[in-house]
Amino acid sequence: MDSPEFSPESNRPDTYYPALRLDLPDAEATGRLGRGLGQRLPARTILLLSGDLGSGKTTLIQGLGQGLGIADAISSPTFTLVNEYPEGRVPLYHIDLYRLAGEEVTDLYLDAYWDERETAPGIVAIEWAERLVDVPPSALRIALTYAEGGGRGAVLSAATPDQFSLLQEVLPYGLLVDEV
Ligand SMILES: Nc1ncnc2c1ncn2[C@@H]1O[C@H](COP(=O)(O)OP(=O)(O)OP(=O)(O)O)[C@@H](O)[C@H]1O
Ligand SMILES: [Mg+2]
Repeated sequence: MDSPEFSPESNRPDTYYPALRLDLPDAEATGRLGRGLGQRLPARTILLLSGDLGSGKTTLIQGLGQGLGIADAISSPTFTLVNEYPEGRVPLYHIDLYRLAGEEVTDLYLDAYWDERETAPGIVAIEWAERLVDVPPSALRIALTYAEGGGRGAVLSAATPDQFSLLQEVLPYGLLVDEV
């Protein structure tokens, strides 16, 4: 594929708040985190999910959908690229960039979701956000990693003061706050 190299530097947020680390010992914990976010995140939130294959991104978005009150089963849009769920508290746009790179991502015109030219304001949740070439402004980031013993870990990075206080509300338990 002759698409340009992805540069992690282009994915850096402009503002840093202390990142919040959280242990997710099992899939239920990943779902619970998603539900907490789904109950509270406002429309116009862009959620960038990164992490290796099978690290729990879809599980988290399934919880997010439950928190939003979406009755439909949420499955990974690996082949459709974008699934839209308009029926919850706010619309959910679930995007999976796994199969794409470089200009293929650019060609998706994902900015239509945050410019709101064609879509109602909602939550845009992006799996494999590492593949983004142009990073949307003020996105909330969640990086999932494999932990020893079979669980997962999450590092949540807010881009705005509102996101930071919302994270503190959602994660009152077992939380370590530090600079990443
Ligand atoms: N905290 C956790 N501890 C252990 N297993 C988990 C945890 N969270 C999710 N899982 C499990 O990991 C598996 C993969 O989850 P999921 O499909 O959500 O990952 P993904 O990051 O979306 O994968 P992909 O990279 O293929 O899109 C599922 O079986 C899920 O139940
Ligand atoms: Mg997935």
